[in-house]
Amino acid sequence: MKKIAVLTSGGDCGGLNGVIKGAASMANQKGIKCYVIPNGYAGLYNLIDFDQLVELTPERLDRIDANLAGSEAGHSRVKIKKVEDPQKYDRIKRGLQKFGIDGLVISGGDDTGSVILDLSEQGIKCVHAPKTMDLDLQTYSVGGDSTVNRIAQFVEELKTTAETHNRILVMEVFGRYAGHTAFRGGVAADADAVLIPEIPVDFDALYRHAKERYAKRIAHSDVKKGTYLIVVAEGLKDISGSDIVDESAGVDAFGHKRLAGAGKYVCQELTKRFKNDPSTADFMRREKMFVKGIYEIPEIRPVTPGHLVRCGHSSAHDVNFGKEVGAAAVLLLIQGIHGVTVAGIHNQEVRYMNIQEAIKQRHVDLNLVAFHEQLGVCFGREAAALKPQFKKIEGEVERHL
Ligand code: F6P
Repeated sequence: MKKIAVLTSGGDCGGLNGVIKGAASMANQKGIKCYVIPNGYAGLYNLIDFDQLVELTPERLDRIDANLAGSEAGHSRVKIKKVEDPQKYDRIKRGLQKFGIDGLVISGGDDTGSVILDLSEQGIKCVHAPKTMDLDLQTYSVGGDSTVNRIAQFVEELKTTAETHNRILVMEVFGRYAGHTAFRGGVAADADAVLIPEIPVDFDALYRHAKERYAKRIAHSDVKKGTYLIVVAEGLKDISGSDIVDESAGVDAFGHKRLAGAGKYVCQELTKRFKNDPSTADFMRREKMFVKGIYEIPEIRPVTPGHLVRCGHSSAHDVNFGKEVGAAAVLLLIQGIHGVTVAGIHNQEVRYMNIQEAIKQRHVDLNLVAFHEQLGVCFGREAAALKPQFKKIEGEVERHL
């Protein structure tokens, strides 16, 4: 390995600049030149047409702020397999040869990982540094912690508006068909309900929980203030297991459905139930909120932060993990190990696994959901029973930082 390059792909998020800095710093340390391939796989496909690549020297690295989210290398959602060019792999190889690139560090999620498998089959040496704010890979992935923190902060801050207007707010968050971001962000912010794709929603159960808690808060407030906050994963399913999405949102470049509309749907379902419930008017009158024709039921509003959950700043955890997996990826390339995903570093051990295994979608653990149901969070169903088991751990303990 004399020259390597780093590319980042898929949705941007926190921790990517950590991966870039970790990879390039380790390369510099080992006397290997490290370059940027701009704009993900679009840049890799068009590498042959570049006149020069930016080298990540220590001076250039100084100008990258690891604490900023997004990626200095840029992204695209291009799947090489889908490129209609029978010579595409040859074109990529010629591009790599042109710049003398011996190996690639590629940071991305499951789609990015599947492209790494294609490239590896073509004899291109690459190592996968896990990235996705959706947190649905088998390993930890940069972006998850930053996003969860942002969601928690948004939900927390929305409480001032929600309480001031006695509104029920429904925040829909990115995360595709795994509910990790809604779950972890919602729990961290003390949300009242968290709706995730892993649990098809029973709107009657949600309504009962919302009605009781909302009414109690207002009744117990000396200034008649109250709210009920719901965090909804964008990939939510209804009780029949069907997607709740606005089909007009179209598909992205990877060919995935753009998910939108779950939050709005939840608002509609709850509003319908408040309207049809004869006790709603009694409650509104009892709390001196009722105004005929204007304010007869609680107001329920969707909030969709969209890309705000993955922009801005990286969490400290993501910068740490990003630097470690970026650097570890370079060590693997030097060692002649490629076509794998970095799982993390433990002591001085670089842990890695097969990409096929690493990119298998991981869902929210329903045992943990049952745990949080006991703590009062509604997951759009009647709370499941908790049967705790106890185990004493001997020896090595898994830890994050
Ligand atoms: O996979 C990351 C993610 O943020 C998803 O949670 C979300 O559905 C998607 O990307 C949005 O992607 P884009 O920025 O391409 O619209």
